[in-house]
Parts: sequence; structure tokens; C-alpha cells
Amino acid sequence: MGIHTLAASHATGKGGPDAVFAVSQKANEAIARLGKEKVVNASIGAIFDDEGRFAALDTVDRHYRRLSKDELMNYAPIAGLPQYLQAAIDFTFQGNQPANTFARAVATPGGTGAIHHVVYNYTEQGQKILIPDWYWGPYQTIANENLRDVDAYRMFNEKNQFTLDPLQKKTQELLQVQDNLVTIFNTPAHNPTGYSMTEGDWQEAIRFYKECARDQSKKIILLLDMAYLDYAGPAQETRKFLKLFTGLPDNILITIAFSMSKAFLIYGMRSGALIGVSPSQEIVEEFAQVNAYSNRATWSNGSRGAQRLLADIVADPQLKRQTDEERDKFYSLIKNRADIFVREAKEAGLVMLPYHAGFFITIPVGDPKAAAEKLTGSNIFVVPLKKGIRLAVCALPTYQIPGLAKRIKEAL
Ligand SMILES: Cc1ncc(COP(=O)(O)O)c(C=O)c1O
Repeated sequence: MGIHTLAASHATGKGGPDAVFAVSQKANEAIARLGKEKVVNASIGAIFDDEGRFAALDTVDRHYRRLSKDELMNYAPIAGLPQYLQAAIDFTFQGNQPANTFARAVATPGGTGAIHHVVYNYTEQGQKILIPDWYWGPYQTIANENLRDVDAYRMFNEKNQFTLDPLQKKTQELLQVQDNLVTIFNTPAHNPTGYSMTEGDWQEAIRFYKECARDQSKKIILLLDMAYLDYAGPAQETRKFLKLFTGLPDNILITIAFSMSKAFLIYGMRSGALIGVSPSQEIVEEFAQVNAYSNRATWSNGSRGAQRLLADIVADPQLKRQTDEERDKFYSLIKNRADIFVREAKEAGLVMLPYHAGFFITIPVGDPKAAAEKLTGSNIFVVPLKKGIRLAVCALPTYQIPGLAKRIKEAL
């Protein structure tokens, strides 16, 4: 009899083909056959310019290549270069840190690493992480890899409006059975829908969490995954809500997954940070200690060159201004593409989830796999999700957008 698995029981059966990769491979095959003008490849979560070239920030590219050998290749400290950690905090808040709070950061490989640490260090084995029903797949992967699970609340009502009731109900249910609760918010510019929570949403949510936290045995951890923060509008507008996290009790911890992947368009250089914010110095010290330990235990240290890059940019007003301006051009490029699509979707009667900003647009459909398959027949490549299909406007040249909503409506 053949041996079929040597993996430990908790690892047996996990893994399998990656959905996004499979779609993008098919798109590339179609491009090879038909040429890139004829193929709409809306599968990739990276910015491509209108000539179809990978987009980078010139200032980032230039400054990185100027770094010395040791800054590029030597180890960084386990927790991250101290100047980097401060730069990650400063860049994230840009003056909007909630009053009377302490903030600490630990370097991680992208926002992914930050999410990993919150899941592992702030929930017990077997507990559930609360996420919305429209979510970035790796939340579940990270939970499962760490022997946790996820529970999902309904993000939009039948009119496709965001409401907090389902989140509140699920929170109360979970707090009945577990004392630690990590809830992940991917805002602004949510992946996959492009929804951004409003200040009103946050005021209501914070009022609710303060109520939950009256029971001091509960440890309430909010994880703000802000991977797309800098593609959601002017820096001061998009960060304003952070000030609302003031006057929270000690048993609510705000954590932020900071990522350089999109903000500096250096996805592959794997640099980010987990930021912890609390009115209690003791809680943020513990935060820094446990997460630095997890760094040592998982990937050791991060990429020093990327850390030095951010530290330099944040310390130099001219470099900062240049990178902001270059990024803003890409923000406007994506916004223009999305504006065209949203307007035409309305005209064509194509229902989409509320989009404010960001890399992706989602169209809810009954059978996403069949819908994606049908669109493939028209050489439109999208990613099927559980309840819809995701279109990466970040990757589509503007000339391919006019008429696309209508084509999708007709094909479906
Ligand atoms: C919703 C969301 N969160 C976090 C990330 C983290 O990316 P990284 O680990 O490259 O920072 C991504 C990347 O695609 C994402 O879409």
C-alpha cells in the first residue's frame, strides 16, 4: 500500500492551487495567442500604467539603488530599525494619532506579517477571528495556519448598503464564548469591494466597542488592515478617523497593519509593520515584546533596505513630497478608471458593491465560477470570489475600460 501523506494531522490536506494565479496564467495564455490589446486581464492586484507596464515610484526606485551595501544587505534588528519603526508610525498617522495614547511598532514582512502576529498573539488556539463576508482570502489562511478559525459578518444589507448591525451581533455572540476577540477591518479602500468606512460608521463602532469593553474580562482587539490607505483620497482625509480612537479603555487594543507594498509600490520587497496603540504604556510595551519575539520565531528580521528607504523618505521633506506626488498620479489614474467603470455600470444596469476607492471593484453574482468562466469566453479575466467576481481596475489600461461594464452585463 502506498503512503499518501507524511504531513502532521493539522497540516494534512491544506493548500492547493491559487485562484488568482490560475486566472492570471489563463490571461497570459490568451495574451500570447491574441495580443494584449484584445485581452482584459483584470486579475492582478498590482498597478500597471496605461501602456501595461509595471508601475513603480521613480523616487523610491532611485533612492533604493543609492543605498550603501550594508544598508541593503546587512541584517536589520529583529524588531526593525528604530528609525523605521518611528517612520512607520509617523507615516501612518501623519498627525492623526489619537490623543493620550502610546504607539509602538514592530517590523513585519508586509501587512501579511502584521496580520499573522495579531492572529497568533491576541487569540487563543481554536478561537475565531471576526471578518466581513467580503474579505481578502489570506485572513482565513492565516487563521487556519495558526489553528484558529474565522467567523464572518454580513457587510452589506440587501440594498448593498454597509451597516454595523451584523458586526455588532456577531461580536456579541463571539464574546459570549471567547474572551479574546480580534476583528479585522480592511478600510479605507477595502479589498475586494473598494468600500471605505465613514467617520459616522467609526463613531458608531467605537461607541459599541466601549460598551462591550465594560466587561473587563474581555480583550477586544481591532486590527485595521490599511494596505490601500494611500489610494483612498487625500492623506489627511483618509487618516482623520484614527483620531476617534481616543479615550478607549485599556482592554481595547488598536492594531494597525502598515504595508509598504502598495504605499511605495514595493510589493516584493516585503516590508511592513504592526503598530499597536493604547492608552496604557504597559500594554504597548507588552505588544512590542511579544511581537518582536514572534519575529524571531517566524522570519527573524525584515528587509533592511526597505526599512532604510522608509526612514529616509519620512525624514526628508523633499523625498516625502516627491513620493507623495508620484503616488498621487497613480491614485488619480486608478480613480479615473474606476469612475468610468462605475458610471457605465450604472448606465448598463450592472449591479456592483459600493466602491469608494482602491484597486478592486466587485460585482455580486450567484455563481461566481460560472460567471468568471463566461467572461473568459469574451477574453475578460476576473477573479471568482465566494459571492461575486473581482475586477482589478489597478491593472487595466484606461482604454480598456469604456464599454467593459456593458460587455460584462451582456456576458452575464
Ligand atoms: C486586503 C489586504 N491586506 C493586506 C495585504 C498585504 O499585503 P503585503 O503583505 O504585501 O503588505 C494585501 C495585499 O494584497 C491586501 O489586499
